[in-house]
Amino acid sequence: MTINPVFTDATPIAAIDAERQFLDDVLAGLSAPQKFLSAKYFYDAAGSDLFEAITRQPEYYPTRTELGILDAQGAAIAATLPARANLVELGSGSTVKVRRLMVHRPDLAAYVPVDVSESFLRSEAEALARDFPNLTITPVAADFTRAFTLPAGLSDGPVAGFFPGSTIGNFEPPQATRLLAHFGRVLGAGATLIIGVDLVKEKAVLDAAYDDAAGVTAAFNRNLLVRMRSELGAEVDLDAFAHRAFFNPEASRIEMHLVSLKAQTIRIADRDIAFAEGETIHTENSYKYTVERFRALAAEAGWRAEAVWTDPGRLFSIHALRRS
Ligand code: SAH
Ligand code: AVI
Repeated sequence: MTINPVFTDATPIAAIDAERQFLDDVLAGLSAPQKFLSAKYFYDAAGSDLFEAITRQPEYYPTRTELGILDAQGAAIAATLPARANLVELGSGSTVKVRRLMVHRPDLAAYVPVDVSESFLRSEAEALARDFPNLTITPVAADFTRAFTLPAGLSDGPVAGFFPGSTIGNFEPPQATRLLAHFGRVLGAGATLIIGVDLVKEKAVLDAAYDDAAGVTAAFNRNLLVRMRSELGAEVDLDAFAHRAFFNPEASRIEMHLVSLKAQTIRIADRDIAFAEGETIHTENSYKYTVERFRALAAEAGWRAEAVWTDPGRLFSIHALRRS
């Protein structure tokens, strides 16, 4: 069957609500005893470009390793998708990975990329539409941690999820369980979820991956301050904060922080926020799992492990899960 090309505009996020939410989250996070910000705020247009630049750094092994698994095992991975599926990609970013599944599954009924980074979402969907003119592509600009509905007009076929990149690692395990349960509800009974999960490995490899020599991850981390300045009018000196990232083996996670290089006060929306020298804003966690630990977490969220693929070096894993 040939499907006519359909391209629907991204659902716009109400800009005012989004800005208000950003301000509320910044003020709440910077008022906590350990200051923190949500990692989702890395991703405006500049943040998405910086993330893509990170994926090209020699130290950042996850992207090229996951692509290697998709190149070697793409046919078997794509075979776990039901026939004529509506494929929903969570935190889609660049479409480079989903293309590796699409080439094996020309029967896909529709592709629904979901991302908070609206302009990047739109341009990636447009590029994909040029290369797969017969595929129905319906981008959704939304925060996938919140309630969101799948677009109207999807076929009656089954719904499947794709969540690559180990973005699940950016959530603390209890939150990750809740998020996977939430995806189960959004995707529906009997859904399949193909998910990329980074694996635990030597500390030196992990430390380097999150502190590349070219300073791209540092710029990505600082982008939070750039956004606070441009979108919230924050008075903050970017050079007064440094990037710090390290593997915390007890918690099995990379922690990223912005370290205040001096005692200072920054001003946001008429509020003064004081920093001691060396005090940090905890900006991201990136949890690293074993295959077994991840399967246990998925099971708690109601997902049964069907299959797993890894690279020869066992750096990264791709799991096929079925909603039990
Ligand atoms: N899937 C891509 C991108 C990973 S980067 C890959 O594997 O390379 C994480 C992506 O998730 C970014 O595109 C970011 O904009 C998006 N993202 C992060 N938090 C999100 C959230 N809460 N809701 C929707 N998208 C989110
Ligand atoms: C999107 N996410 C899985 C990346 C990660 O590796 O945790 C984000 C990132 N942060 C720093 N480098 C990359």
